[in-house]
Amino acid sequence: SLWTILLLVVLAVLLLVGVLHTHVKLLLPAEVERPPVTNIMFLKTHKTASSTVLNILYRYAEMHNLSVALPVGRSFHLGFPWLFVTRYVEGALQAGPHPGPPRQFNIMCNHLRFNLPEVQKIMPNDTFYFSILRHPVTQLESSFIYYKNYAPAFRAASSLEAFLKAPHRFYNSSAGLRNAYARNSMWFDLGFNNDAAADDAYVRARLVEVEQRFQLVLIAEYFDESMVLLRRLLHWQMDDVVAFRLNARSPHSVVRLSPQGRERALSWSALDWRLYLHFNHTFWTRVRAELGPRRLRAEVEQLRARRLELQTLCLEDTAPRSGASIADPRLRPYQSGDADILGYVLRPGLDNATLHLCQRMVMPELQYVARLYTLQFPQKPRKRIPFLEH
Ligand SMILES: *[C@@H]1O[C@H](CO)[C@@H](O)[C@H](O)[C@H]1NC(C)=O
Ligand SMILES: *[C@@H]1O[C@H](CO)[C@@H](O)[C@H](O)[C@H]1NC(C)=O
Ligand SMILES: *[C@@H]1O[C@H](CO)[C@@H](O)[C@H](O)[C@H]1NC(C)=O
Ligand SMILES: *[C@@H]1O[C@H](CO)[C@@H](O)[C@H](O)[C@H]1NC(C)=O
Ligand SMILES: *[C@@H]1O[C@H](CO)[C@@H](O)[C@H](O)[C@H]1NC(C)=O
Repeated sequence: SLWTILLLVVLAVLLLVGVLHTHVKLLLPAEVERPPVTNIMFLKTHKTASSTVLNILYRYAEMHNLSVALPVGRSFHLGFPWLFVTRYVEGALQAGPHPGPPRQFNIMCNHLRFNLPEVQKIMPNDTFYFSILRHPVTQLESSFIYYKNYAPAFRAASSLEAFLKAPHRFYNSSAGLRNAYARNSMWFDLGFNNDAAADDAYVRARLVEVEQRFQLVLIAEYFDESMVLLRRLLHWQMDDVVAFRLNARSPHSVVRLSPQGRERALSWSALDWRLYLHFNHTFWTRVRAELGPRRLRAEVEQLRARRLELQTLCLEDTAPRSGASIADPRLRPYQSGDADILGYVLRPGLDNATLHLCQRMVMPELQYVARLYTLQFPQKPRKRIPFLEH
């Protein structure tokens, strides 16, 4: 029995070494030692969890004192829905009779309609380009609620179901760019014609263009897997990509389409559907090539555990709450259309360092744009956030 005990001890030691070894490998992967990528262009698509990605990039920029290509003057996006040009960026163009080349920035991530030659004027040539896509059915469901009063095509439709039964009764491509939210909106964000016929040669040529420009296209349905992959390619720390979900709707403002409605949505937004299917495929190919299933699972678990830890540390409630009920204007999210956008309330009594971290994790997009603007351009008038002023 002494032998049995000895054997058990040996086994226990071996097990412990194994566990420690995987932990050490998790915490110190080789890629973390490479310098982190700090020149980044994120094409922020609409209604795709991209506000959460924006928060991650803003926090990283603030923590590392990186410059951000912020919207000029009072604006909150980079000229959207117009095609991007450099004058939409504050401080990009130098003044004077003989202006030099435009100023360059580390990070660019506000809403814009992609226009590569103009983006390249202000982003360094080693910039990492990435974006995120969402299933076009849920993307359109979200877009309908959010832009209900803004997109002319949605305004007159009683429901998305009704809109999709006879879209051409409501949608008129000549009615201007506000209707871009109503059809192939991700295709539009990429700078393409969202009313083009989805013929094969055209679609394939555009997909190749996206693939050549964007080093990574993430998928909102696999958000945590996306963050794990992003962290790996940027050589960032795990904590850098931990975030709370921002700009989400409350469950009671989520309306799901019928199976028939879903079919109609996919043929109405056929370009977005092709885009999504293609990049869902390349996403998983990339995940498999970079991580392998066990490593992926371990890192996703690590990310979720850390998020839970920070939720417990920072937040008063276990779930986000209705935005309108948030008293602190710095933390109250903008409400749009028929959507009830959720936000967070911080636990009282946090120490300064924790408060600093937690505030940034829950800061809604408009407030964070305004904050970075003041930090980066202290001599300019602050950005006013109209919905907080009445
Ligand atoms: C942050 O960067 C700006 C220029 O981009 C520089 O002027 C400033 O001194 C930096 N601040 C810190 C704290 O490093
Ligand atoms: C990239 O930009 C740097 C500095 O702006 C320049 O020295 C370098 O030649 C450029 N590289 C390429 C491949 O254009
Ligand atoms: C679309 O809008 C344009 C301009 O507002 C108008 O001339 C045209 O008749 C409209 N087409 C349809 C099908 O409603
Ligand atoms: C996306 O890819 C995953 C993994 O291959 C697959 O399970 C899923 O069905 C795909 N989604 C769609 C809409 O095809
Ligand atoms: C916390 O921050 C406040 C305001 O910035 C400051 O007045 C206070 O001294 C800080 N407390 C500590 C313990 O650092």
